[in-house]
Amino acid sequence: MIVLGIESSCDDTAVALYRPGSAELFSEVVSRQYEIHDPYGGVVPELASRSHLEAIPNITRELLKKAGLGLSDVDLIAATNGPGLTGALIVGLTFAKGLALSAKKPFVPVNHIEAHMFAATAENEVEYPFLALVISGGHTLLSLVRSSDDYEIIGRTRDDAAGEALDKGAKILGLPMPGGLNLALRAEAGKRGTPDGKRFPRAYLKPSFDFSFSGVKTALLYHVEKNPPKTEEALCNIAADYVEAIMDVLVKKTIRAAREFKVKTIVVGGGVSSNSRLRDLFKNRARGRESLNVIFPSLPLCTDNARMIAARGYQVYKKKGPGDLGADVFSTFVN
Ligand code: KG4
Ligand code: ZN
Repeated sequence: MIVLGIESSCDDTAVALYRPGSAELFSEVVSRQYEIHDPYGGVVPELASRSHLEAIPNITRELLKKAGLGLSDVDLIAATNGPGLTGALIVGLTFAKGLALSAKKPFVPVNHIEAHMFAATAENEVEYPFLALVISGGHTLLSLVRSSDDYEIIGRTRDDAAGEALDKGAKILGLPMPGGLNLALRAEAGKRGTPDGKRFPRAYLKPSFDFSFSGVKTALLYHVEKNPPKTEEALCNIAADYVEAIMDVLVKKTIRAAREFKVKTIVVGGGVSSNSRLRDLFKNRARGRESLNVIFPSLPLCTDNARMIAARGYQVYKKKGPGDLGADVFSTFVN
């Protein structure tokens, strides 16, 4: 079985081949757009769509060529159908459907959030039920996952997503795109709890499992307005305290939810799950004291990628069969 996955929901165009159960699970080609959007300080949807359109046929050809395969060797084509930027989604979705039609292959639409939620299960034996923490640029949610097609969302962000708060924080500190990653690198170099930094506020919203990150972002803005960092060292120290405030809430609330719902396994996914401080905090707090099992995807499966789309596509196809190949792309959108 070979699955071709296609991801184009935001500013990365990615295509991947997935061989369920094989030693070489994935191969992938990604085309990133940071330089296109950086002058505008954020993703420009129309530029993203055009860039996907240019990249997608070339990287698909490159992917197949590298694998020594043709389209006829592919058994299933999976593409993201939302949530995401509408124009960007349409590019990947119509390309995928076109390939499926021309090569007479089944097509399956994939929900991007579900793909993050189940990404780690492609590489790890994970027992159900588990608690999933999805932390991306657009979403922060906790979900109780009973099987590959049965989950319940128990908490979500009421304002900014965790990744969004990191991206906006990077902007406040004058860092270029990709903001979250650049901020995380500064935080790794900085020291927590220095006079440059600040103990930024944490919103726990007890007893709810919802999240809120707009307060910490505003606190950073005010702090930087009053105390603009004069050295790289001071900037790194502020970054370290800011990242700590966000990761602290994510880890504490997730562990509390695991305890309350009596779940022993936590599965993390989404771009923010690549963060080293988050991984350390989970390791120290959950694995040490709580004997919880915390599973992270490998780094290529954290930020937006087509591997997770192929893997989730395969899961969905096994349960539900092929999706609709009709020309009305909007009918296959999830939101
Ligand atoms: O899952 P993702 O690639 O895209 C969405 O679905 O949104 O997540 C992107 C988010 C960005 O907001 C970015 O700030 C964050 O992931 N991110 C990180 C790191 N790398 C990316 N956050 C913290 N540490 C990182 N190393
Ligand atoms: Zn994503």
